[in-house]
Amino acid sequence: MTLDLDFVRSQFPALRSEWAYMDNAGGSQVLARVAARVSDYLLTSNVQTGASYEPSRISTARVAQSREAFARFMNCDPGEIVEGASTTILIRFLSEAMVGRLQPGDEIILTNVDHEANIGPWLKHEARGVKIRWWRCDPETFELDLEDLKGLMNERTKLVCVTHASNILGTINPIREIADIAHAGGAELCVDAVAYAPHRAIDVRALGADYYIFSIYKVFGPHHAVMFGKRDKLLELDNIYHYFFDKSRVPHKLEPGNINYECAWGSIGAVDYVEELGQRVGAAPGRAAIEAGFAGIADQEQALTERLMDFLASRNSVRVIGRKSCAIADRVSTVSFTVRQDSSRAVVEAVDGAKVGIRHGDFYAKRIVEEHGLTQTDGVVRVSMVHYNTPAEVDRLIAALEPVL
Ligand SMILES: Cc1ncc(COP(=O)(O)O)c(C=O)c1O
Repeated sequence: MTLDLDFVRSQFPALRSEWAYMDNAGGSQVLARVAARVSDYLLTSNVQTGASYEPSRISTARVAQSREAFARFMNCDPGEIVEGASTTILIRFLSEAMVGRLQPGDEIILTNVDHEANIGPWLKHEARGVKIRWWRCDPETFELDLEDLKGLMNERTKLVCVTHASNILGTINPIREIADIAHAGGAELCVDAVAYAPHRAIDVRALGADYYIFSIYKVFGPHHAVMFGKRDKLLELDNIYHYFFDKSRVPHKLEPGNINYECAWGSIGAVDYVEELGQRVGAAPGRAAIEAGFAGIADQEQALTERLMDFLASRNSVRVIGRKSCAIADRVSTVSFTVRQDSSRAVVEAVDGAKVGIRHGDFYAKRIVEEHGLTQTDGVVRVSMVHYNTPAEVDRLIAALEPVL
């Protein structure tokens, strides 16, 4: 299946500029339809939800439709969707809502490859006597070993937290297998899916995660985020909103303050878009179209990744950080590397002039960078592509990298 790249690019007005955007793991470009929806919400239905008068009913229905869209996107029920300002905020709220359940002596497993958003909020429980155990990656290959996870589990393990794809390595972690290990030990699984969601179809039922969170500004939408939580798990969580909310008020007890209504309505455009990509190649609307849309996205991304990886493999000065495989099941199109012991900042600055937007640093996955000697090079150079990037853009990047590699 080939993606209609002309159609794809026509959907993103920013791509008409002369820049090649390859910092998409930081934030993607926005669909025209998303911006139009945000504007339409603000200009036609910007009243408080929950009242009986007609405009308020419209506003309420629009927010409800965003939960329906993301339920379709993740294959769950609308009542299992919690929305919020960002993934960092949603995981902090989730952590706060677990205070009643996490007792002194309980244990949480965290990885050293995760973004800090899925680490910091859980470390706060240490002050209450909760023990943290670290699931560390192999220092050479950067792989997480499932046998190591099994060895960390015991009867006090209550939660395992892991990223679906690393925002530095691009590695896709085997969430189904991790969920089975966590559940066999009586623990829950919280997955940070921010670096995965722009690249592959999500099926939370098949994955078995208990909580699954991502940010829509990396999936062609606005600064907004969603969390799936299994219905029974959401009901068990503490209320973190006003005292008069009871535990049954899901999702509102987990959405203190109002969520951003215009972003909720705007975000539907991102789901529509992927569905349209699938329908354009003949899939039926709904889940089938979402899966077909992402199949086309994955193929395009794989071709781009292979092009870049082949070039990087041809340079002795380059060390790719993480997997070299470009297989669709193994990695997303985020590739990081270092060049000799050179400053990654200097490598990126050498590329700026070619109007290709890439980036260096630790990307808030600071532990993997600090624990593996990568601070000496000012972190890694990261090229994060999505399906709207083109082979010609990759060639432009390669031409700009050639003199410095
Ligand atoms: C893997 C990963 N997790 C979490 C986050 C944080 O997302 P947000 O900015 O929505 O809090 C990011 C942002 O870069 C990320 O890449």
